Amino acid sequence: MSDLVVVATRGPFALRLEAGEVVAGRAAGGLAPSLAAALEGRRALWIAAAASRDEREIAARGLPIPAPEGLTVRLVVVPDEIAAAHRLIANGTLWFLHHGLFDRAHRPTVDRRWHEAWERYRAYNALFGDEIARLAPASATVVINDYQLSLVGGRLAELRPDLATVHFTHTPFCVPEELRTLPSDVAAELVGSIASCGAAGFHTERWAGNFRRCAGEYLADEPRTLVSPLGVDPRRLARESASPGVEAARARLSAAVDGRRIVFRSDRLELAKNIVRGFAAFGELLEAEPGWRDSVVFLAHLYPSREELPEYLAYRNEVERAATRLNERFGKPGRLPVILEIADDHDASLAALSSYDVLLVNALRDGMNLVAKEGAVLNTRDGVLCLSKEVGAFEALGEAAVAVEPFDIAGTARAIREALEMPASDRHARARRLAELAALHPPAEWLEGVVAEARPGRRASTS
Ligand code: G6P
Repeated sequence: MSDLVVVATRGPFALRLEAGEVVAGRAAGGLAPSLAAALEGRRALWIAAAASRDEREIAARGLPIPAPEGLTVRLVVVPDEIAAAHRLIANGTLWFLHHGLFDRAHRPTVDRRWHEAWERYRAYNALFGDEIARLAPASATVVINDYQLSLVGGRLAELRPDLATVHFTHTPFCVPEELRTLPSDVAAELVGSIASCGAAGFHTERWAGNFRRCAGEYLADEPRTLVSPLGVDPRRLARESASPGVEAARARLSAAVDGRRIVFRSDRLELAKNIVRGFAAFGELLEAEPGWRDSVVFLAHLYPSREELPEYLAYRNEVERAATRLNERFGKPGRLPVILEIADDHDASLAALSSYDVLLVNALRDGMNLVAKEGAVLNTRDGVLCLSKEVGAFEALGEAAVAVEPFDIAGTARAIREALEMPASDRHARARRLAELAALHPPAEWLEGVVAEARPGRRASTS
């Protein structure tokens, strides 16, 4: 067994059963693949929830889980009703809270049903806490990841005070005014449990500061925080991008684009990514600059996410309608200004990342945003990054990007135009700088920095 334990709801791979064999594919989102990369060549135990029917079966039958040498994966089987309620709290409340997505006249609705779900969120976290307590070797280091597991730290501080722990939040952390949308005992439990870890980690000082200010409203002592921004590994990305699958996707892309300049985005189909305003901005550009109508295409690769939440389904409809409207307004037969692909096609996204002229990342709020960094190291056309000031990655990349204020559609349209019309020498200089900045703190180094700050936890007391 290893003395490093990594805990996340998602495992390093999405597992499925094919003819009785366990097959490992890419996990959703930026977090799991980055953590997996960070662990390359290290001994570690990864504890995750069994996320699908196949994964539950794999766990129940104790089938061996393929993983690179040194890595052991354990899946926790969570009863259905606990898993469903946990998703409601984690994705329907905490994600909205930390990304500032609540439409406060209506949400959140903290009623009896919500409190029942919160109980189950607790139960889910307790299951994880108990499993870690059972499996972690004496004095091991435990890195707990993200908002789905906010209450694990508190439980571990009680059950296993010998463990050195960090709770790392990959999302933003909300401000105190936002946290006050939850009942104060719930808010205190949330910040108190994260603060019970030896350190609370964040990608930027902004989120760490928000957490300290939130904690200050409920806790007696200031929590220990650490800031460790995650970068990307250019060599690994270059390897992936040279695969035959990506080469084939590049050929398909070039046929579809047909000589036009490419504005690209790649995101989970996610409210915080601000996809509809991105289309609106592109529409304003085409409206104001007829010269561009025939010579630029907006390629949006979106992979479906959290479809059990009605907000996400409604948003998907809005996204599809926005793309269709632009195509009806500005398209010609066989030449549409928007190519929208809703699919989980990693090869196609890597192909587009190497080929864009402009990458649009206009998220409302994001803990880091690795797409911006992946594009910076993969792009071969001196592509310009239009980057939201509200994402963690702006702290590192902002100086070489064109800044975008995510609510300002007209400003975003101007930013895309500026990017498209930027002189080649300027584009080149910025692209080189972006690639350098994005490669700082690659996953393995990031993890070292986090592990170095782990300390034995202690139950935080409320003020
Ligand atoms: C973000 C979060 C992760 C989450 C991922 C995918 O990257 O920080 O914790 O796993 O999105 O979301 P999902 O709900 O599909 O796990």
